Amino acid sequence: MSYPNYSFPKVRFRRNRMHASLRKLSAETQFFPEQVILPVFLTENQATEDLDSLPGVKRWSLQDLPQLLETVLALKIQAIALFPQVPDAKKTLACDEAYRETNLIHRALAIVQREAPNLATICDVALDPYNPFGHDGFVDEHGRILNDETVEALVKQALCLSNAGATIVAPSDMMDGRIGAIRDALEQAGQTEQVILSYAAKYASAFYGPFRDAIGSASALKTDKASYQMNPANSDEALREVAADLQEGADMVMVKPGMLYLDVVHRVKREFGVPTFAYHVSGEFASLKAAARNGWLDYNNCIWELMTSFRRAGADAVLTYAALELSELWHQKNGISWR
Ligand code: PBG
Repeated sequence: MSYPNYSFPKVRFRRNRMHASLRKLSAETQFFPEQVILPVFLTENQATEDLDSLPGVKRWSLQDLPQLLETVLALKIQAIALFPQVPDAKKTLACDEAYRETNLIHRALAIVQREAPNLATICDVALDPYNPFGHDGFVDEHGRILNDETVEALVKQALCLSNAGATIVAPSDMMDGRIGAIRDALEQAGQTEQVILSYAAKYASAFYGPFRDAIGSASALKTDKASYQMNPANSDEALREVAADLQEGADMVMVKPGMLYLDVVHRVKREFGVPTFAYHVSGEFASLKAAARNGWLDYNNCIWELMTSFRRAGADAVLTYAALELSELWHQKNGISWR
């Protein structure tokens, strides 16, 4: 055998890639089921419903919720994020349903506390499920989203959720000053241990479509959310948003969408070192599902790589509609039965 006239590489990266065990030993990143968070849609109807634009995801009835909780616990998932589909008849300009003691979220919280007291609950603080416009805040007659009036309502909503036992209240509305206002109100009410997860860097994304179908705000929404959610072009601004929310009393922060904004996840985690979550949003999830359904992508391999990438970028935990499947896959790969 003749070799060309150049020196052999002394550094051969492939050596460490030759065996499965060496690949595992040299892996820089891992993930565990404890790091996935399941978003859960809720309906007031008797029967649990399938969602056309989110294949495999359901809108759960309260009656069936215990069954889901059992699976969630068995799979070692630590938290669920609750989202209500509010019937149109209950949507009002003042968003009254958001504060009603017997609303869907408050009833669901009672069920979780009874059936799964160690499971953390994350509850959105935002008005979009509760008004006929599908906007996260109050809208004036010119179509403008009112900041300070909305913050007042968010404070009220956050206090209701805290009283109802939400482990984490999560403002996802992007109004200015809401974290500080909510923190002040909680302290004044003696709720000094209430955790706030701020959707600090939330972008005006086109990838929220299937979520809006699921909570029934899609048809209502006539204008975009660009006047309050962030411009996808910006990441320095994300750091300023996070800095402000931490200053105002947030305990954890979220970047959303996650998959398209891994650079932001990375910068936030590196700069602040606080618990940083990423939201693998509905449109990111649905496009993967659609490709997999067409046989164009291998779903299991894709979600494994996805979760690994979120962790590599610096996310501590990830909200994803694939949470159950990811955890199942993890147990399977590690030879641990979970049922
Ligand atoms: C609304 C809210 C949205 C999502 C979570 N909370 C949609 C929006 O801002 O319009 C999107 C999540 C997803 O797409 O999976 N406060």
